Amino acid sequence: MKTVIEPFKIKSIEPIALTTYEQRKKLIKDAFYNTFYLKSEDITIDLLTDSGTTAMSARQWGKLMEGDESYAGSKSYYKFENAVKDFTNFKHIIPTHQGRAAERILFSILGGKGKVIPSNTHFDTTRGNIEYSEALAVDFPAEGGTDPAKLGDFKGNMDIKSLEQMIKKVGKKNIPLCMITVTNNSGGGQPVSMKNIRDTKNLLKKYGIPLYIDCCRFAENCYFIKMREKGYRNKTIKEIAREMFSYADGCTMSAKKDGLSNTGGFIGTNDDGFAGKAKTLLIITEGFITYGGLARRDLEALAVGFEEVFDENYLRYRIEQVKYFGDRLIEQGVPILVPTGGHAVYLDAKRFASHIKPEFYPGQSITCEIFKVGGIRAVEIGSVMFGKKDEKGKHIAPPMELVRCAVPRRVYTNSHIDYTVEAITEVYNNRKKLKGMKIVWEPSFLRHFTAKFDYV
Ligand code: F0G
Repeated sequence: MKTVIEPFKIKSIEPIALTTYEQRKKLIKDAFYNTFYLKSEDITIDLLTDSGTTAMSARQWGKLMEGDESYAGSKSYYKFENAVKDFTNFKHIIPTHQGRAAERILFSILGGKGKVIPSNTHFDTTRGNIEYSEALAVDFPAEGGTDPAKLGDFKGNMDIKSLEQMIKKVGKKNIPLCMITVTNNSGGGQPVSMKNIRDTKNLLKKYGIPLYIDCCRFAENCYFIKMREKGYRNKTIKEIAREMFSYADGCTMSAKKDGLSNTGGFIGTNDDGFAGKAKTLLIITEGFITYGGLARRDLEALAVGFEEVFDENYLRYRIEQVKYFGDRLIEQGVPILVPTGGHAVYLDAKRFASHIKPEFYPGQSITCEIFKVGGIRAVEIGSVMFGKKDEKGKHIAPPMELVRCAVPRRVYTNSHIDYTVEAITEVYNNRKKLKGMKIVWEPSFLRHFTAKFDYV
């Protein structure tokens, strides 16, 4: 059979809102034209994020009842630790309530003024935590990684040559670690090849710089390695994951993605000295070392999530659903970032609304219109999220202007996807009517979450 189906049936349902165009026009205006201010009860299809929005399995829901809510030494922690060690093999597994808490601990200890942290592409909270520590976050996406129209198997790769040049220039003592984000979220959910991870590790080894993987979508990345990289077709996803983590000295994870759960995260590391400091910080700000700010029942759900995510039938459905979404848009002529990545379809706002300059936020304008037409919530990943200003106040645009339509895991069927494609196509066919936008208020940090907009 060629048709890839959801390898599950639905046991419990949650109603979604069906509203009118007039209602949605008012709702988005009242939300200051920022989809983060919308109430979820007013949304028809919520593609804001794939993070923490997973539908848990019946087994996970059952396991919640087994949560051992002890403050210290909870047996739920040990189940979680075993599950994570099984594929990462890190010596220390430090639970956190989500990914950014892991990042904050990592960079409070290893960041700081004068330090430089390279990556293939840092996610926004990772960058935020690095910059908050006053270190410098730099991205080295490989060639083609910032060209939405260019096809490639591993567009998430690190540009190793530029990384080495930077190491030579800055000096290894100023680089406490290097990160690789799998899949590369800000770069379009694109995978990183095993070869690229191995080569990066070999380079870093030469300079004595540790490699940490930002691994929230590791299983999706491993599935791409299996399908696209020579020599991996006959390996299991777990074998591929084990090899991937064997090249790393540590990791941070937002388990809200490939942990197939609604909350959670962790730091994995082989470094005893760092682990000691991290555990102290954890106790001060997150919780004891056997729960790290999580309810112990959440650790139970995660332990099961880390089994289910290795199911290849699940991963095939997951990656194929995102591809189905992208392919239907391409059929309609809508410009998207190609090939489709692991967790989202990214509209290429530069080509979609080519009449709007980056300083007038084409992606934000598209995002608002998609909500008005279909009640669909997406998010801008472009000049709103990453734009900067030079000394004269002139807009510096990031390399890509994208709108991300993230697909929650196990939540929507392909008829929800068809509906979304119809709405996006309608916006695209009327694209000439899209208007540029301006920011009327913004906070000093991570502005996309709370900035307020209006049309110019
Ligand atoms: N790293 C990556 C690559 C991420 O995509 C995220 C979160 C984090 C770290 C932080 O994890 O949210 O658990 O604190 N990404 C979500 C998203 C928010 O929508 O892409 P967190």
